Amino acid sequence: MLRRQGISFQRTLFAESSGGGCAASDTVPGMDTASAGAVRLGKSDLVVGPVAYGCWRLARGDARQARVNLETALDCGFTLVDTADVYGLDDGQPFGAAEALLGEVLRAAPALRHRMVLATKGGIVPGVPYDSGAEALRRACLASLERLGVDVIDLYQIHRPDWLAHPEEVAGCLTELRQSGRVREFGVSNYTVDQFEALQAHLPFALVTHQPEFSAWCLDPLRNGVLDQCLRRGVTPLAWSPLAGGRLGLAAEAARREVGGDRLAAVIAHLDALARDRRVPRSAAALAFLRRHPARVVPIVGSQRPERIRECARAVEITLSRSEWYAVVEAAQGEALP
Ligand SMILES: NC(=O)c1ccc[n+]([C@@H]2O[C@H](COP(=O)([O-])OP(=O)(O)OC[C@H]3O[C@@H](n4cnc5c(N)ncnc54)[C@H](OP(=O)(O)O)[C@@H]3O)[C@@H](O)[C@H]2O)c1
Repeated sequence: MLRRQGISFQRTLFAESSGGGCAASDTVPGMDTASAGAVRLGKSDLVVGPVAYGCWRLARGDARQARVNLETALDCGFTLVDTADVYGLDDGQPFGAAEALLGEVLRAAPALRHRMVLATKGGIVPGVPYDSGAEALRRACLASLERLGVDVIDLYQIHRPDWLAHPEEVAGCLTELRQSGRVREFGVSNYTVDQFEALQAHLPFALVTHQPEFSAWCLDPLRNGVLDQCLRRGVTPLAWSPLAGGRLGLAAEAARREVGGDRLAAVIAHLDALARDRRVPRSAAALAFLRRHPARVVPIVGSQRPERIRECARAVEITLSRSEWYAVVEAAQGEALP
């Protein structure tokens, strides 16, 4: 496990060159860049493990289970913990439930905060459905800080693009949140390349992450320019639903019943062959596929079972060959590449 490979969880630094924000004496949670597989978020001082842990499904369990999952993920070196104000709602819980649960865990075990790079998101407003206007975003961020019980959010991401918010207004709000010391760095999720550029054009500092859906089943970022933009700008891609929300964990028969089932079953068969050859679990092979891209993708794992979280950590043990990687792409698209 990564911990055995010498990860240190706390560093004391914050670059003055990053354009305002927190004071130089602030403690930045994160990892040593020399740690195996460590990934720097964009050009920031935040350094995270090669795989991240996501809290979308965290509110399905209680605080005890949430703590076990988080400790397991951190022990595996998943030091980026990704949540959002809206998480919990899909599981019939109130808005804010997943953040509140994470906050409860952090209050009970404050040392965990220093082991993680804490990421959350705002901008989804149930019933609206999107508001990234300055007032709404500021309110959302302050509410997240309150629920999480922390003074600073390491990475604040706009969850989905709001077509009605002028990027200049959004940028003004993010700049103020950074200058007030409430947020260290910013990213976006589900943005197009042009939406990213429009926001970046109005910001006096660089966005550090882009969070698209990306898996061996959902290859969109390979073709819609998001990963190329990450390469061009030095932005870190965070892949959401890296196991296709569990579809890549299905048995072949169940996979065939899904939409596009024959293709899904073919992807799973390729991943299984890979997993057998390399002696890792299928989930680890699926995450290794994402990590093979040169943009240094950090997959965000969402399992609520410690044993599966540990299996995912084995993704760092293998590197796919070109032919193995392209075979998965061909299976997912259902035809050979020219
Ligand atoms: N920005 C966005 O719009 C957005 C959208 C969605 C998600 N996200 C982020 O991405 C994170 C991950 O999303 P996700 O939960 O959909 O990710 P995922 O890792 O693709 O899927 C997790 C689901 O797969 C199931 N699963 C089945 N077999 C598995 C196996 N062998 N190993 C691990 N899990 C297996 C898990 O069930 P068990 O729990 O029973 O193991 C869980 O329900 C979220 O927590 C969130 O942080 C962001």
